[in-house]
Amino acid sequence: MNSTKATVRAGDCIGGTQEVPGDKSISHRVAMFSGIAEGTSRIIGFLQSEDCINTLRALEMLGVETTFDDEGELLVTGTGGQFIEPDGPLNFGNSGTGMRLMAGLVAGLPFPVDACGDASLSSRPMGRIRKPLELMGCEFEFPVAKDRAPFRVLGGNLQGIRYDLPVASAQVKSAILMATLFSDGQTVIREPRPTRDHTERLLRVLDVPIEVDGLTVTMEGCGPDGPEVEATEWYVPGDFSSAAYWIGLAAAREGCSIGIQNVGLNPRRTALMDVLRRMGADIRVELISERDVVEPYGDIKVKGTGLVGTEISGEEIPNLIDEVPLIAVMASLAEGETVIRDAAELRVKESDRISAVVGNLVRLGIDAEEREDGMVIRGSSKVKGGTTVESLGDHRIAMSMAVMGTYCTNALTIEGIGCTDTSYPSFWGDLRHLGGHVEF
Ligand code: S3P
Repeated sequence: MNSTKATVRAGDCIGGTQEVPGDKSISHRVAMFSGIAEGTSRIIGFLQSEDCINTLRALEMLGVETTFDDEGELLVTGTGGQFIEPDGPLNFGNSGTGMRLMAGLVAGLPFPVDACGDASLSSRPMGRIRKPLELMGCEFEFPVAKDRAPFRVLGGNLQGIRYDLPVASAQVKSAILMATLFSDGQTVIREPRPTRDHTERLLRVLDVPIEVDGLTVTMEGCGPDGPEVEATEWYVPGDFSSAAYWIGLAAAREGCSIGIQNVGLNPRRTALMDVLRRMGADIRVELISERDVVEPYGDIKVKGTGLVGTEISGEEIPNLIDEVPLIAVMASLAEGETVIRDAAELRVKESDRISAVVGNLVRLGIDAEEREDGMVIRGSSKVKGGTTVESLGDHRIAMSMAVMGTYCTNALTIEGIGCTDTSYPSFWGDLRHLGGHVEF
């Protein structure tokens, strides 16, 4: 994406069907698992976005080979656990998932590994992975600022731990599980609230001994040489968090209908649909995969209608955490008040999403207020637009504001749109395909 800003409004007719690119969380994980395996794995539907490509580059620096086949699918030749010492820092760009999960993966390796990222990633908390990984036996060094990237991981003889996660974070849970692949003994993790469980599901496919009982995950360490894992073929369904924008594009537009195909429907990712249904939305789901497949997927159909406000808190939050900026847009268009609580984690995402979202809504003349752990929005079905909002370099803010632009009476300009390449490089083309009017 070369342009820095986009001006968006609704075209003559919004609607149609769309496929979305592969799931980002699953793409990171299957690349890493393929990198550990013996032989060449094929990954169908790998998300070719900046975040996931950075994970591939990091794996390559550890001795993994990656290439794309004639059909455009990713081939990853793993090291069978015999990683090589990288000759420079692994650069994860904007990606918290890449950095945190790979820190877990290298924590048991017998050499130091340096990790760095962009300005946003360098401001995000890394103490949350440092603490459990150090308890397992490795060490971290932070040359610039304590518990912030860049950092060095000095891999150690890892031992399993019992660990109660202080925050509901799939990234932290997964970093510990990655380290357990190269540790001795048993690891038991307790989550405060259920978070996305892609790592657990995918490890089961690899026959790694892992059990889930409610909020407790128990995994046996595979020893310092790592697990013996055979290369395999993976299928990555479309990313629900990308489909979310097209659900939002239709949900509050009377007479509009949008279908999204082959979308991941892991229940720990799809709470946005529950929220929008509570707000009055007409959303139907047709499961294509077997219900008990590794990662369920299917088609989503949305018909537009008037929405009303709702309350969102507690266990629902981790299962829609990346969709809150979009929910805020939908709440702005709904009748009545929407209250979002228990979502302080939003303050440490790619931007402080509470302040970024509320700041942009207020610029648009919407009645929105920040709370320490969320926000309150009083909606109205008419938003004027005709102004400029800022992405703050955060892909989810940019894409949510683009959806907002299609509901405004006058076009909306979004500044800082290059960041959408981190998760959804074809976003602007897909928005046009569905009837959005976009000028760069
Ligand atoms: C992710 C987990 C979530 C989410 C992020 C991707 C993952 O972060 O916000 O976009 O792939 O595990 P936390 O687990 O830190 O909340």
